[in-house]
Amino acid sequence: MLSGANSAANSEIYNKIKSEISSKVSNEVSNEMNSELSSKANNTVKNSMSKVTFVLNGQAVESSENPTKRLLDILREDHGLVGAKEGCGEGECGGCAVLLDYKIVNSCLTPLGSVQDKQVITIEGLSLSTEGQTIKKAFEDYGSVQCGICTPGMMIATASLLHHNQKPTEAEIREGLSGNLCRCTGYNMIVKAIQYLADEKGELWC
Ligand code: FES
Ligand code: FES
Repeated sequence: MLSGANSAANSEIYNKIKSEISSKVSNEVSNEMNSELSSKANNTVKNSMSKVTFVLNGQAVESSENPTKRLLDILREDHGLVGAKEGCGEGECGGCAVLLDYKIVNSCLTPLGSVQDKQVITIEGLSLSTEGQTIKKAFEDYGSVQCGICTPGMMIATASLLHHNQKPTEAEIREGLSGNLCRCTGYNMIVKAIQYLADEKGELWC
């Protein structure tokens, strides 16, 4: 039989061991949680820095730039594609227009991250295609180019319009050009060129 003194001593040792184990378990759980949180944070940082990949004028490209950077700057600074120009920088003039999956967008308002896995075509890429060359010839034939500042954006708008509507009415053509400003031509010559393209070169846009 244990004496009273022994029993008190045992009880004290037992409580001490219990407290130590409890503290160790707490530390382990805490370390595990910290490690999980840290790993999640690392992944978040890693994801936010991941590369954006897209197809630019037919070629697969990737960019490590900040996904919020403007597509206009990526094209001009990183790829030397200066055909898209900054006019207003606010989505009003169409000078920076490019095709995104064959739809016209203002690259000054398009963040890099939004083109992930998409196809971007600039005026340089369009000009190399049969469609682009046909648009260029029609613009020349119909006197649609004067100072030329709006012309790349107008050609992009034309390709976008005819790609989605092979037989546009005059009103639809004017609406298709409504995001692109021209201070020289009064638009009529551009509209006529597009009417010709729709009437005579319809097979190109099917
Ligand atoms: S510069 Fe982009 S719309 Fe004017
Ligand atoms: S041709 Fe000069 S702005 Fe259109």
